[in-house]
Amino acid sequence: MTVSTTLSQTALLLELEPVVARNLDRHLAIAKEWFPHEYVPWSEGRTFDGPLGGEAWSPTDSAIPDVARTALIVNLLTEDNLPSYHHEIATLFGRDGAWGTWVHRWTAEEGRHGVAIRDYLTVARAVDPVALERARMTHMSEGYTNAHGDEVLHSLAYVSFQELATRISHRNTGKATGDPACEALLARVAADENLHMVFYRNLLAASFELAPSQAMRAVADVVADFQMPGSGIEGFARKSVAIALAGIYDLRQHRDEVLLPVLRQWDVFNVTGLDADGEAAREQLATQLDTLQTAATRFEEKRDARAARLAR
Ligand SMILES: [Fe+2]
Ligand SMILES: [Fe+2]
Repeated sequence: MTVSTTLSQTALLLELEPVVARNLDRHLAIAKEWFPHEYVPWSEGRTFDGPLGGEAWSPTDSAIPDVARTALIVNLLTEDNLPSYHHEIATLFGRDGAWGTWVHRWTAEEGRHGVAIRDYLTVARAVDPVALERARMTHMSEGYTNAHGDEVLHSLAYVSFQELATRISHRNTGKATGDPACEALLARVAADENLHMVFYRNLLAASFELAPSQAMRAVADVVADFQMPGSGIEGFARKSVAIALAGIYDLRQHRDEVLLPVLRQWDVFNVTGLDADGEAAREQLATQLDTLQTAATRFEEKRDARAARLAR
């Protein structure tokens, strides 16, 4: 029988600090500097109506497909809520030492994403700038609350999956635009998200060594109630269905391209030294993956049937 001691949130933060320091150094050594302005086709821009008396936006200003526009808006609004995310992680991880350096560095990198995507969408007239601004006000006014805001390992598990989810969502959105410049920008953003995922994934890998049962519990809980960070966006349910139907982000990708690769890195099904709750958590995780498998297959069948209907 395995006897385990439960580490407090403070103990976890202290124990993980050297791992944060190492991974911060690693991140800073491999992160590539890039500049949002280089990804925006400024000379294609035109002055809008309003104080400067230009031309109002029209849906015909851009050839980007509707569903790609929807995904671009969801991705940008998600990036826009950065002040809330910063608040959540600064409160949990702290603003001192290696944790604090990471919190600020991560925030600065994420800040670039919203700036770059907004500049691009405005210049390319890809989406209605008035509707976008109103949606941003509504979304940011709601704020964002981490579902596991006072638990270090739950939060690390969540961001490990969430960074990979946003990576895939940005990359596939870029492809769906059919616009090489937009695709290049979103591929660049997606590369950042991947490094963020690696950082958090490494921290949770170290947590599995430190407190395997607590880490397993965190992973199982987070997989069970995972929501995209932008799930509070007005009309998110409808938008996310359109995004899934277009294959930009669907359950299959969530399970097979987000959850499974990260779980494989942690080797969750071979972790040893689990106590009773750790074992129970691992079983719940396995069941949840099966449930997702069934749901993903059902969705794909429905989508195929719909496509066949529409093709008739
Ligand atoms: Fe981002
Ligand atoms: Fe990120």
